[in-house]
Amino acid sequence: METSTERPMGKTLQQDTGIYLDYNATTPVDPRVYSTMEPYFKEFFGNPASAGHHWGWIAENAVAKARTQVASFIGCKSMEVTFTGGATESNNWVIFGLISKLREENPEAPIHFITSNIEHSSIMKGMAAAQKMGVEVDFLPVNKFGVVELEAVKAAIKPHTKLMSFIWVNNEIGSINPIPEIAALCKEKQIYLHTDATQAVGKIPVNVTEMGIDLMSFSGHKIYGPKGVGALYIRGKDPKVQLNPLIYGGGQERGLRSGTVNVPAVVGFGTACELCQQNFTAEVQHMKDLRDFLWSELQQNIPGVKLNGHPTDRSPANLNITLPGIKTEQILPRLQKLGVSTGSACGTGAMVVSHVLKGLGLSTEEVQCSLRLSLGRWTTQDELSRAAQILKQAIQK
Ligand SMILES: Cc1ncc(COP(=O)(O)O)c(C=O)c1O
Repeated sequence: METSTERPMGKTLQQDTGIYLDYNATTPVDPRVYSTMEPYFKEFFGNPASAGHHWGWIAENAVAKARTQVASFIGCKSMEVTFTGGATESNNWVIFGLISKLREENPEAPIHFITSNIEHSSIMKGMAAAQKMGVEVDFLPVNKFGVVELEAVKAAIKPHTKLMSFIWVNNEIGSINPIPEIAALCKEKQIYLHTDATQAVGKIPVNVTEMGIDLMSFSGHKIYGPKGVGALYIRGKDPKVQLNPLIYGGGQERGLRSGTVNVPAVVGFGTACELCQQNFTAEVQHMKDLRDFLWSELQQNIPGVKLNGHPTDRSPANLNITLPGIKTEQILPRLQKLGVSTGSACGTGAMVVSHVLKGLGLSTEEVQCSLRLSLGRWTTQDELSRAAQILKQAIQK
């Protein structure tokens, strides 16, 4: 596979429309990913479940290859990878698939889950729905860096705790949870450990087998693959994780996730994983250097700017900052050339304030002054210098 790549945003588009610093929201599809997907929209359009002809076999082989690429990237066996429609689905599957399995085995037995109060909304809301189904859920608070404390995790365990689910790298503040340490604790107590690794893969070393993880969700569009595809890793032995399907139907994905497999997306996801694996060390270094450069530019240009999350032990791709006394909604009209994301947003008439920043202990006012800047494969130092200038000028005005 080639190692160099053209920039997918295109020079003109990039210059005209501004600077994209929202890679945590989504990444552009790598042109190398796209070129492996294209034939599966055209000549290789078969259904991988069509076992009687070569159109089906070609598609089936492509899905099998992608499964190997994904498995190699996260350090597991191919049969432990099930393709889904993205991390939201994977996260929901863990919660409701497990409740279904446990209730099938013993409808009367109490169930207890542990999670944190700064998870992605797919876990926060999924867990809230689980509570309505009679499951006891503890949402653990995090420390000032946005990290779950091991002691708090230990203290929350009950005899009927069946699942712990913690985000590995936080999508808003880039904090990193001690997942391998929590996994060791779970193994000792015979509790399943699930991690939402959507923002971890491609950014920190991940090996589910070595790290003792039982279930792991991740997604294609955060690693330069297409949207609408992701995976759930389900440990096959020691222990073999027991999970009922979330979606029933034609029995695709070994009966675990029915529905015709989205072959082009799965193929792209596989390529995206392979590219991340090949260039991991250099890419992480590139992101870290840029992140540190951006932070020093911001400090020089915006006196009083504050960094949220851990000062050093954080995602290489993420900075979350609080501007000194300036609400982002005041300056947003002047930031249109900057693709960033804010800590608060006006939803349907009401102000939605980030539960993650609140969970970190920020006041509502501080959350309203906060911005997330996230970078990636095609970010340049020049863009970051310009981004800091744009922010400085917006604030000065
Ligand atoms: C940490 C985390 N979990 C889950 C998701 C949802 O992923 P998807 O868009 O694939 O459903 C995201 C995406 O925003 C995320 O950042």
